[in-house]
Amino acid sequence: MSIPHEKGLDHTCNMLLEGYNYIGNRRKRFGSDIFQTRLLGENVICMGGEEAAQIFYDETKFKRKGVAPERVKKTLFGKKGVQGMDGSAHKHRKQLFMSFMTSDRINDLKDITERQWAIAAADWEQRRKVVLFQEAEKIMCRIACTWAGVPLWAKELNQRTNDLSAMIDAFGAIGPRHWRGRAARNRSEQWIRTIINQVRNGEYHPNENTALYAMAWHRDLQGNRLNLKVAAVELLNILRPIVAIGRYVTFGALAMHNVPETQQKLVTEGDDYNQMFVQEVRRYYPFGPFLGARVHNDFMWSGYHFKKGTLTLLDIYGTNHDPDLWDMPDEFRPERFKDWQGSPFDFIPQGGGDYAMGHRCAGEWVTIEIMKVSLEFLAKRMDYYVPKQDLRFSMTRIPSMPKSRFIINGVTSK
Ligand code: HEM
Repeated sequence: MSIPHEKGLDHTCNMLLEGYNYIGNRRKRFGSDIFQTRLLGENVICMGGEEAAQIFYDETKFKRKGVAPERVKKTLFGKKGVQGMDGSAHKHRKQLFMSFMTSDRINDLKDITERQWAIAAADWEQRRKVVLFQEAEKIMCRIACTWAGVPLWAKELNQRTNDLSAMIDAFGAIGPRHWRGRAARNRSEQWIRTIINQVRNGEYHPNENTALYAMAWHRDLQGNRLNLKVAAVELLNILRPIVAIGRYVTFGALAMHNVPETQQKLVTEGDDYNQMFVQEVRRYYPFGPFLGARVHNDFMWSGYHFKKGTLTLLDIYGTNHDPDLWDMPDEFRPERFKDWQGSPFDFIPQGGGDYAMGHRCAGEWVTIEIMKVSLEFLAKRMDYYVPKQDLRFSMTRIPSMPKSRFIINGVTSK
């Protein structure tokens, strides 16, 4: 059986024009969770849905080495990081990341997050206008550095936050946004390399339970210390995505504003509701559009032939909005998570499958806990006004964000 095929020479332009909905639109049009197309001059298989995700995370079928384009490595990922590794080397590196995800370290993270919001809220009371997205990213940068053991001077905060943010903002970009991301990565890697060097030379002594300590002293499967550049790339794989949580916090604030009963419930109901709210923010709002992998060896699935080396994209946004998996997927309804069975393949804002064995996001628990503390703080501990502004968000700008960046004023602490 041949995979439904999108006719035409190349569809990169359509992908840019349709953004988050590119794969979903064609899954609907073909009536198929899988189709083939051409992007950037290459034959590409696109797929989505729970079964497709399950196949995508079968490491006998797909690999990650050589998947990320250079432009993404030069901005978002860096070179020779965990994202592009396979097999036992990947599992060993992944274990390094998962070693920070203990309940003690997550509790530290929650305390740090609470403290940073309290400091920020006190400051905002003195201000006429606060752009929540920008401020949330700064808060996240402080949280990330404190938790990871990375020293951050007050005078550096804006530059470091802007750089970590620019790397994230560059991942779907061409033109100036891409170039800003490249410059930001070069500066950030230089910054972190200097600090790791100081640790290795005994000039700086981070706490032993921090990511800085662990990355500085980690040894690979051959018993060698990580090369300085790679250690910096991996430590940035902790700092940068924590700053990215600022986007979800902003979308969470938007959800509370657009559906005010959710804010009420965050105040009156307990932790279970907070958890459902956070899950729904991660399901509903656009962040990662799709993931890429290459076929490891020829195989057959559902009667379709996957040829070795073929680039294959998994529809993240479309799977989180799949009408076969989610009732009324385009409504914001946290309560849907009451009935969610917890499949590792139907709800994949941060990838699917297993944390330790596969490529699923190492920081998913970190994301959920930071979001819970942050959004509860916004709902319960602060009052503010949301003046008239353009809160629409684009489905073609990747990564997306409300146009006005969510302006608030008249902040008072409760
Ligand atoms: C991987 C999304 C936060 C660390 C990923 C992947 C996605 C993702 C889609 C790829 C999964 C795959 O390739 O199959 C997000 C989003 C976040 C977030 C949307 C929040 C806004 C975090 C945080 C951390 C983190 C807070 C660390 C503290 C990582 C690492 C990987 C990863 C190390 C690579 C895992 C691997 O290749 O094995 N993330 N992430 N992420 N994420 Fe996150």
